[in-house]
Amino acid sequence: MPTVLITGGAGFIGSNFVRHLLATDPAVQIVNFDALTYAGNLANLRDLDGHPRHTFVRGDVTSRDDVRGAMQRGVTDVIHFAAESHVDRSIHDSGPFVRTNVLGTQVLLDAAREFQVSKYVQVSTDEVYGSLGATGLFTEETPLHPNSPYSASKAGADLLVQAYQHTFGLPAVITRCSNNYGPYQLPEKLIPLFVTNLLADQQVPVYGDGQQVRDWIHVLDHCRGVEAAWRRGAPGEVYNFGGRCEMANLDLTLLLLKLLGKPETLIKYVADRLGHDRRYAIDCTKAERELGWAPQVKFDAGLAETIGWYKANTAWVATIKNKDYLSYYEKQYGKRG
Ligand code: NAD
Ligand code: DAU
Repeated sequence: MPTVLITGGAGFIGSNFVRHLLATDPAVQIVNFDALTYAGNLANLRDLDGHPRHTFVRGDVTSRDDVRGAMQRGVTDVIHFAAESHVDRSIHDSGPFVRTNVLGTQVLLDAAREFQVSKYVQVSTDEVYGSLGATGLFTEETPLHPNSPYSASKAGADLLVQAYQHTFGLPAVITRCSNNYGPYQLPEKLIPLFVTNLLADQQVPVYGDGQQVRDWIHVLDHCRGVEAAWRRGAPGEVYNFGGRCEMANLDLTLLLLKLLGKPETLIKYVADRLGHDRRYAIDCTKAERELGWAPQVKFDAGLAETIGWYKANTAWVATIKNKDYLSYYEKQYGKRG
């Protein structure tokens, strides 16, 4: 019976992953390890209170003692989601990104070696590949070319994982996914920020010309991919996941306005993100071929369900929006909405 240390399990993707794994695998035990930064929220796990196969441990991945303490709970496998995850924040202050994403990964890798885990999964991002022109897709062979402090810290972590796999034979795999959306995403990211603003009849800040392209994937499709990489991924391999759903930010904004019945006057064009990557798009055929995975959620259905979730969870949104993190763009560029 595997006991999986899931780091970052109180965040957006981590909490969806914990819920997904508990629901689909009656044999798994989860040690959910999270520092509860501004992005971690126990309310994301409320429905799991008292679950017999879920233990929450508050701790910091940069602390060797915290990590070793959690590993001593019989951990057999590690799936590493914990990270500083927001590009705008990394432009404002890269320190926490280097600490958590690079140093935290090194501490976790050392613990994974010491406790001789069966599998270590590094949850990474397509942003490590940099930016695409109008055509082409990121494959697992695309050279790393990170452009933001966030993506540079994630690429640094990926290189450490590959070095530990090569040097020490750590059974590690890396997953690289495109932009996720779905329930429990913090409204600092495009979709939940725009949905919650529009529901309150507030403006939505579109960076630059809004023609940057992202490849959207439902969070549950990402979770199924990480699970497949954990169960069937070959040590030393990288697997890309994407939704085959490319969309320019402005088109997505117009779609959200339409779905919510709001006027285009709520669009506010603001200064562009510094060093803004123009286009991401994923070739996920390797994961389909080797892991038997494929994205299942159609964007229209997933987006409608996500909007419904934010409408139904106003109490969750209210607590979240009281936090100070939304001011990061303002600190960088001034008022925006
Ligand atoms: P998130 O910001 O919502 O959650 C991150 C979680 O990590 C939070 O619960 C936070 O408390 C925890 N954390 C942060 N620093 C920590 C530390 N030092 N020690 C322990 N816990 C800490 O992030 P997310 O969007 O859920 O992303 C999860 C992972 O997936 C990240 O590694 C991210 O790079 C990767 N990823 C995200 C996306 C996306 O679209 N959101 C896409 C591809 C990959
Ligand atoms: O591609 C995977 C990455 O996707 C993950 O690794 C990151 O953790 C995750 O945050 C996400 O990064 P992005 O920077 O692409 O996501 P974000 O939601 O911040 O922005 C999506 C696009 O929308 C991007 O082109 C910037 C733009 N944007 C964003 C915000 C928050 C706006 O135009 N206005 C906004 O207010």
